[in-house]
Parts: sequence; structure tokens; C-alpha cells
Amino acid sequence: WLWFGVITLIIFLLVTGIMAFAMNLHPAAGHERTVAPEQVLSTAPFDKPGVYPVGDKEYQVVMVAQAFNFLPAAPTVPAGSTVHFRVTSPDVIHGVAIPGTNVNMMVLPGHVTEFTYTFKKPGEYLLLCNEYCGIGHQVMMAKMVVQ
Ligand code: CUA
Repeated sequence: WLWFGVITLIIFLLVTGIMAFAMNLHPAAGHERTVAPEQVLSTAPFDKPGVYPVGDKEYQVVMVAQAFNFLPAAPTVPAGSTVHFRVTSPDVIHGVAIPGTNVNMMVLPGHVTEFTYTFKKPGEYLLLCNEYCGIGHQVMMAKMVVQ
């Protein structure tokens, strides 16, 4: 049984290692851009969080997740829009989750997390922090407005 445990551990470490190094699936993947956390709020594009059109029904949402709110607080796009989120944090680890979609990002201080999602149905989507980030974690939320 000891060998069973040892072999299972080796397989687990191999799978983790292959995913991290060969498949590039790790927290820093896609985070080639980094900013010093204390400079996030003074570094473009995060000095002007907001919704920026980048094409036909295509928007970039530049977002700052900080204790304990999101900027912008209510990003608004037309229905059918493809949204490229670019999110970072100036303080601690936060999350961005939009229930009912597969938007679920971990936001590391100073790292730029990117995710693309197409909002087909109009409505007000809850956007919340799903990483425990401090005493205000449970009130850290915003809404994504799809018109
Ligand atoms: Cu931010 Cu929890």
C-alpha cells in the first residue's frame, strides 16, 4: 500500500508538472504583462478603468478589483457583445465570477488576467469576488449590464 501511495504521488506530480510546464496552465499563464501592485492605479490602462469599444460588438473591459469594490462598478455593453476582460488588483488576490456564465477569473496583485466572453442575453449580471480577500469580501460585488 505504501508503494501504491508513492506511485500515485508520482503520477500526480507528473500530471501537475506536465500541465504547468508543457501545457502552460498555471496562474501566471497569459499574465505576460505585470505591473507593480502599488502602481496599478497610475499605470495605463488601469488608471482609467472602463468599457472601450475595440470592434463591431466587441469591447475591452479594463477592470480594477480592489478591497472591496470593482471599477467600473457597472460595465455596460449591448447584447451580443464579445467582452475581453482585462483585470488586475492593486492590493490582494480577488476573483471575478459572473454566475450563469463561465466567467471565473483569479486576479493576482499586479498581474493582468484576461478572459473573453460573449454576452448573448440582455440583463443585469451579478459580478462578484469569489476569492476571500478580507473583512469586506462578502460585499465586494458589481453588476455587468447587458442591454
Ligand atoms: Cu475581493 Cu473577495
